[in-house]
This record gives sequence, structure tokens and C-alpha cells, in this order.
Amino acid sequence: MSFRHYKDKIDEGDVVILYLSNNLHAIEVKPEIKNKKGEMVENVYQTTFGALKVRNLIGSEYGSRVELSKGWGHVLQPTPELWSLTLPHRTQIIYTPDISMILLQLDLVPGSVVIEAGTGSGSLTHGLIRRIRPHGHVYTFDFHDHRAKVAQEEFESHGLSDFVTARHRDILAEGFGDDLIGKADAVFLDLPSPWSGVPHAVTAIKSDGLLVIAQQWDSLNITIRVIVAMSAQVKLRATSYYLQRHAHSTKRAFNDTQALLLALTKCPAVIAAFSTLTNVWSRNMTYQCNRDLSHGGLDAERTKV
Ligand SMILES: C[S@@+](CC[C@H](N)C(=O)[O-])C[C@H]1O[C@@H](n2cnc3c(N)ncnc32)[C@H](O)[C@@H]1O
Repeated sequence: MSFRHYKDKIDEGDVVILYLSNNLHAIEVKPEIKNKKGEMVENVYQTTFGALKVRNLIGSEYGSRVELSKGWGHVLQPTPELWSLTLPHRTQIIYTPDISMILLQLDLVPGSVVIEAGTGSGSLTHGLIRRIRPHGHVYTFDFHDHRAKVAQEEFESHGLSDFVTARHRDILAEGFGDDLIGKADAVFLDLPSPWSGVPHAVTAIKSDGLLVIAQQWDSLNITIRVIVAMSAQVKLRATSYYLQRHAHSTKRAFNDTQALLLALTKCPAVIAAFSTLTNVWSRNMTYQCNRDLSHGGLDAERTKV
């Protein structure tokens, strides 16, 4: 339950982040785990600094130093940011720099109702949950059965299930369901062919709600056309967000999108907020974060001889 409230000490069942100079690991605090034969055995977590007896974490303070067989590390309480850097990847994920911009563009506040598709690995979902709690709710959809199921199990084991519902559904074919018509303050789409989801999103969004779409630049004009075609029914506002760090093509994309959006501001109904993510940039950013952490000065001499 370590995702739910800030706490001082580690309890059995918490997820903790083990911070080592060269890596971060998410560990579920279970004294015993099943081995390949299905027998319960001592839970010993292996790292490049040796083994950690997970049982020994129970009762330790968050932020404290823990001993490993060949070194030491620190145990941190998980945050959405740390979780994005350590979660088990079932898909490509969105990282903190992009998540920050998405939360900003969605105008979320505590109490907001937000819809997300697809759930993927639940990286963004953790950021959304923190923003809308304690009274809001995230409805997250994925058409991949296993991903939807594992995500729901993860939210439950993190103590977050009051704030999130994970559903298995092809939202492009079936929409978000009758119970969500006109209920969402915001919808976020991160899936292939997102333009096909725009009419469903519009059905689910309140009249003053927001739609944000993560999309590669080369197909952005298709989505824009769909929205323009719907402009009589929706009143949405225009923004474009680009991460212009690396690729030359991204710069070109930025110019193209600006031109498109500029043309569209002549329409009486304005366009949705677009967030175009570049995974290359995200990966670089993660690398940068890891590097920064490893030079954080916590450990001049970590390895025991
Ligand atoms: C890139 S991942 C989303 C990653 C997620 N934003 C995160 O940060 O972890 C895209 C997800 O969309 C799902 N998806 C693709 N098409 C879909 C559809 N028509 N309906 C629902 N989910 C869909 C895929 O199964 C995949 O899990």
C-alpha cells in the first residue's frame, strides 16, 4: 500500500524502490516467494551489489540505507515518477517529462474524471491517479485482455483501486460505454489510429472537457480533419506540444503542425490539444534521469570489498 499514503516505515506487502548507484529496482516486500517447483522459499533479491534479504526491509524507514551482500543501497517510497522508471514493461510507456505536459494540458484537478486508452503498462495511469485523487476517478481501457487484467491487479496491489477502473475493451470499435457518456472532464488517447477514437471521446467528454492525443506527427493531419469535421458538435481548444530535442524531423513536424493549427484557428470551433510524443526523446530522457541519479553524490564508495 506504499503508493497510497506517505508513510515512515516499510510494511509487508509494500512496493519499495531500491536505489543503487547504477540502477533502480521496484521490489514487492514479500518475505517468501514461490520457486519454480511451487514451493515457498526465502525471497532473496539479486542485484549487481549482491543479494538483499527482502524480509529485512520490513520495519525499516523509507529513505534509509540497506545492506546488501556486496554493498548497500537506499530504499525509497514509490512515486509515479519512480514507478515509470522501474515498472515491468508490457508496452512502450510514457515517461515523466511527457506525463507532466499531458497532466497540464488535460487541466486535471483533484476530483476530475478522466478516461485513458490504452492502458499499456499503466505508467501514465499512475500519474493520472495522483492528480485526480482523492475524489476523482480514472477509467482506463485496453483491448489487450492480459494487459487490462494485469493493470487492474497492479492498481489493487498498490492500494489504488478506489481511484481507477481498468476495463478490457476495443475503444475504437465500441467506444467507452454508456455509463461514461458525458461524464469525463478529460480524455487522453495513446493508441494507433487515434482519429477513429475522436467521435467516441467527444461522446464521453463533458461540454467543457478536453481531449489530448498522443500521436506521431506524420498522421496528425488525419486527426485534425476528423475534428474539423466534427467541429459543429464540439468546442475544443487548440494547443500543440512538441518535444524538440533531437531529430531534425521533429523540427519539421513542429513547423508543419504549427501551420495546420494556425489555419484551423480560423474555424469557429477550435481544435483539441495535441501532444505528440517522441519515444526517442523519452528514452533519452530516462537515460538522462538515470545518469543524473547515479551522479547524485549519494555514494562515493558503494561497493564493499
Ligand atoms: C503505447 S501503449 C500505451 C502506454 C501507456 N500510455 C503507458 O504509459 O503505459 C498503447 C496501448 O493501447 C492499446 N490499444 C491499441 N489499440 C486499442 C484499442 N482499439 N482499444 C483499446 N486499447 C488499444 C494497446 O494494447 C497498448 O497496450
